[in-house]
Amino acid sequence: MFKNASEASQVVATEIATLVRERASAGKPCVLGLATGSTPMGVYRELIRMHRDENLSLRNVVTFNLDEYFPMAPDAAQSYVRFMNENLFDHVDVLSENVHIPDGTIAEESVGKFCDDYESKIAAAGGIDLQLLGIGRTGHIGFNEPRSDADTVTRMVVLNSVTRNDAAENFDGLENVPHHAVTMGVQTILNAQRIRLMAYGEHKSAIVERTVCGDITESIPATFLQQHGDVRFLMDDAAASKLNLSNTSK
Ligand code: PGA
Repeated sequence: MFKNASEASQVVATEIATLVRERASAGKPCVLGLATGSTPMGVYRELIRMHRDENLSLRNVVTFNLDEYFPMAPDAAQSYVRFMNENLFDHVDVLSENVHIPDGTIAEESVGKFCDDYESKIAAAGGIDLQLLGIGRTGHIGFNEPRSDADTVTRMVVLNSVTRNDAAENFDGLENVPHHAVTMGVQTILNAQRIRLMAYGEHKSAIVERTVCGDITESIPATFLQQHGDVRFLMDDAAASKLNLSNTSK
């Protein structure tokens, strides 16, 4: 738990930078699973600062983003391609051929093959070393909404109404929010070596409590993280405010 998001973001960014440098010294790539939304922005700001001020190079980094709305043009204001370019990639030396983001422009009949290829590319890269996550108020990780089971892989999903409502402001109205998305699955996420989930703000406190203290259930896909051997939740005081830590044995 941290006083605020910026302290937590610094811890996560420092862990990423250490891992990237260790791999670079060994002549190896570092495979990062990346997230979008307001939550990871502080981590990206800090990585950009380290690139600028502390010689952090991301040339050995391979990235796989969690998800993208479907359909979605890459230059649209709400596109996660655009989000990643503006908030990270345009400001660091990551190689464009090492960047992977689900494609919101492909024909619907090709989505299945695209998703299979996405999984194959993650495997070919050696798997994800560190996966960044936010959490939605439905308990989604990526866009794995309630009823996404632990064995799900990258696929097209239907967005939950809570998620669409939460996105409505960004889209200038609920009617403009896509009904679908392409997302890594719960299994894809659980395959990562390390998982770092961040949650900030009072509005996340109820889902954080259920995720950390509740039973594992597909009604709250984030609860599957309890089964992972190297997962950390980094929260500000507001997001942690409903946790009764004396009850937390898990
Ligand atoms: P947020 O979204 O970071 O914008 O709160 C998190 C999520 O829905 O996973």
